[in-house]
Amino acid sequence: MSRYAAFVLFLALGIEIHVSHGIEVSVNDKDGKLCLYANLMVNFSVSYEVADNKNETVEIELPSDAKTAGSACDATSSTLKLNFGEGHSWSMNFAVKENTYQADSITFSYNLSDSTVFPNSVLNETASVTMKPHITDVGLDTCYSCKSKDMIQSDSVNQTLWNVLIQAFVSNGSKSDNLTTCAADVPATTVAPTAAPTPTTTPTTTTAVPVTNSTSPAPPPTTTPTPTLPSPTTGKYSIKPDENSTACLLADFGLRIGFKQGDKYQEMNLDPNGTVASGSCGVNSSELVLVSNSMTIMFTFANDTKKFRLHALNVTAKPSSGVVFSEVNSNLSLWEAAVGSSYMCNKEQNYTITNLLTIFTFDLQVQPFGVKKGVFSTAEECQGDAESFLVPIAVGVALLVLILVVLLAYFIGRKRNMASGYESF
Ligand SMILES: *[C@@H]1O[C@H](CO)[C@@H](O)[C@H](O)[C@H]1NC(C)=O
Ligand SMILES: *[C@@H]1O[C@H](CO)[C@@H](O)[C@H](O)[C@H]1NC(C)=O
Ligand SMILES: *[C@@H]1O[C@H](CO)[C@@H](O)[C@H](O)[C@H]1NC(C)=O
Ligand SMILES: *[C@@H]1O[C@H](CO)[C@@H](O)[C@H](O)[C@H]1NC(C)=O
Ligand SMILES: *[C@@H]1O[C@H](CO)[C@@H](O)[C@H](O)[C@H]1NC(C)=O
Ligand SMILES: *[C@@H]1O[C@H](CO)[C@@H](O)[C@H](O)[C@H]1NC(C)=O
Ligand SMILES: *[C@@H]1O[C@H](CO)[C@@H](O)[C@H](O)[C@H]1NC(C)=O
Ligand SMILES: *[C@@H]1O[C@H](CO)[C@@H](O)[C@H](O)[C@H]1NC(C)=O
Ligand SMILES: *[C@@H]1O[C@H](CO)[C@@H](O)[C@H](O)[C@H]1NC(C)=O
Ligand SMILES: *[C@@H]1O[C@H](CO)[C@@H](O)[C@H](O)[C@H]1NC(C)=O
Ligand SMILES: *[C@@H]1O[C@H](CO)[C@@H](O)[C@H](O)[C@H]1NC(C)=O
Ligand SMILES: *[C@@H]1O[C@H](CO)[C@@H](O)[C@H](O)[C@H]1NC(C)=O
Repeated sequence: MSRYAAFVLFLALGIEIHVSHGIEVSVNDKDGKLCLYANLMVNFSVSYEVADNKNETVEIELPSDAKTAGSACDATSSTLKLNFGEGHSWSMNFAVKENTYQADSITFSYNLSDSTVFPNSVLNETASVTMKPHITDVGLDTCYSCKSKDMIQSDSVNQTLWNVLIQAFVSNGSKSDNLTTCAADVPATTVAPTAAPTPTTTPTTTTAVPVTNSTSPAPPPTTTPTPTLPSPTTGKYSIKPDENSTACLLADFGLRIGFKQGDKYQEMNLDPNGTVASGSCGVNSSELVLVSNSMTIMFTFANDTKKFRLHALNVTAKPSSGVVFSEVNSNLSLWEAAVGSSYMCNKEQNYTITNLLTIFTFDLQVQPFGVKKGVFSTAEECQGDAESFLVPIAVGVALLVLILVVLLAYFIGRKRNMASGYESF
C-alpha cells in the first residue's frame, strides 16, 4: 500500500518537474489589485564572444523562480519584468490601443560576467537586446494565448516563447476567461503566413497553461483569415518625360500585396481606378510611383549597361485596421531583361520582397528604359510563360522534321528508281 502511494507520489512529482519549466506570475497595482497576469515559457539562445574572436552559443531557460521587481501597471501602459540569476532580466512592455492592447517591446539583459552561464566570456558587461514581440490586437479584458512556439530573432539572441498566457490590464482584479488566440494556434484555413511558428507537438506541456472555461469553446480569434481576394484588375501605367513627348516608361500589371503585421497576414489588391502614377526616367535609373488611397508603391529600376532589373521596392499600405505597414528592399534583381526590350510575365507570379512582404503580379509587362514611340519593344518572357510556349514550338519543330524526313525519303526513293531504271535498260 505504502509502495503504491510512493509510486503515485513519484508520478505526481514527475509531472510537477515536467511542468515547472514555465513561470506563473501576478503583478498587482498600487492598490494591491491584480493588474497583470502571465504564465509562459521562454528559452534564450545567446551567442557571446570568447577568446580568439570566437563565439560560443548557450541556451538559457527562464527559470520559474524569477522575481517580478520592476513590474508595474497603470491604465494605459504596463511592464512585466522578470529578474533571475546573477543580474539577468527579461521584460515586456504593453500598451493599450483603443479596444486592444499589444506588447511593444521585449528587452533581455544578460550579465556576461556570470561565468556559470557564460563561461570564458571575453566581455564582463551586462548586454541588452530589445526585440519586437508578435503580440498585437489582443482584445481588452482578454488573455492572450499562444501555445505554439514563437521565435524572435536578433543579432546575438534568439528567444522562443511558448505556452504563453498573458493578460495585461486586468480590469476588475481577476483574470479573464476570454482568450485572444494567436494565429499559429488556429488550425490553418485559407492563407497561412509563410513564417508561422510550428505548433508544439507535446500535448503534456499544455497542462502548464491554466485551463479556461472548458464548457464553452474558446472564442474565435480576433485574427480572422483574409477571404480569398478576386484577381486584381490590370492597370496600364506610363511616365512621360514631359507633356509633349511619348512615354519613356511603360508598366502594365495587376498587383496584389500580402503582408504580415504581428501575427496577422493580410492581402490587398491595388485598384488601378483612382491610382495616380508618377515617376521619372533616367539613364541609369528609372522610377515609377503608384499612389492609391490604400497604398503607395515605389518601383526603382536599374540599367546595368545591357540589362535592366527591378532594383528597389518600397511599399506602404494603409489597411483598414489603421496600422500603417511599410517595407523596403533596395537589393532586388527581379524582372530582368535586355535594355531596349520589355519584360513580360502573364502567369500569376509571387515574389518575396522581405520576410513580411510578398507581391503577386498578374499580366505583367514592364519597360523602364528605351521605350520607342510610346509602345512596348519586343518582350522577354519569364520562365513560366516561356515554358507554356515551348510545347507548341516543340510540336512544330517535330512536325517540320517529320515533313523533311518524308520529303527526303521520297527524293532518295525516286533517285534510286531512276538509277536502277538506267541500269536495267
Ligand atoms: C538564431 O536563429 C537563426 C536561425 O535559426 C540561426 O541562424 C542563428 O544562429 C541563431 N542565433 C543564435 C544566437 O542562436
Ligand atoms: C529550453 O531550454 C532547455 C534547457 O536548455 C532545453 O532542455 C529545452 O529543450 C528547451 N526547450 C525548447 C523548446 O527549446
Ligand atoms: C554579474 O555577475 C557577476 C558575477 O557573478 C556579479 O558579481 C555581478 O554582481 C553581476 N552584475 C549584476 C549587475 O548583477
Ligand atoms: C572587466 O574587464 C575589464 C577589462 O576587460 C577590467 O578592467 C575590469 O576590471 C573588469 N571588471 C570586472 C567587474 O570584472
Ligand atoms: C467574454 O466575452 C463575451 C463577449 O465578448 C462577454 O459577453 C463576456 O462578458 C466576457 N466574459 C468575461 C469573463 O470577460
Ligand atoms: C462556463 O461557461 C458556461 C456557459 O457559457 C457558464 O454557464 C459558466 O458559468 C462558465 N463558468 C465559468 C467558471 O466562467
Ligand atoms: C507642348 O506643346 C505646346 C503646343 O505645341 C507648347 O505650347 C508647349 O510649350 C509644349 N510644352 C512643353 C513642355 O514643351
Ligand atoms: C472608377 O471609380 C469611380 C468612382 O469610384 C467610378 O464612378 C467609375 O465608374 C470607376 N471606373 C471604372 C472604369 O471602374
Ligand atoms: C543604359 O546604361 C548604359 C551605360 O550606363 C547607357 O550607355 C545606355 O544609354 C543606357 N540605356 C538607356 C536606355 O538609358
Ligand atoms: C551612369 O552610370 C555610368 C557608369 O556607372 C556613369 O559613368 C554615368 O555618369 C551615369 N550617368 C548618370 C546620368 O548618372
Ligand atoms: C518609402 O516610402 C514611404 C512613403 O512613400 C517614405 O516615407 C519612405 O521614406 C520611403 N522609404 C525609403 C527607404 O525610400
Ligand atoms: C508562389 O508561387 C509558387 C510557385 O509559383 C507556389 O508554389 C506558391 O504556392 C505561391 N505562393 C503563394 C502564397 O501564392
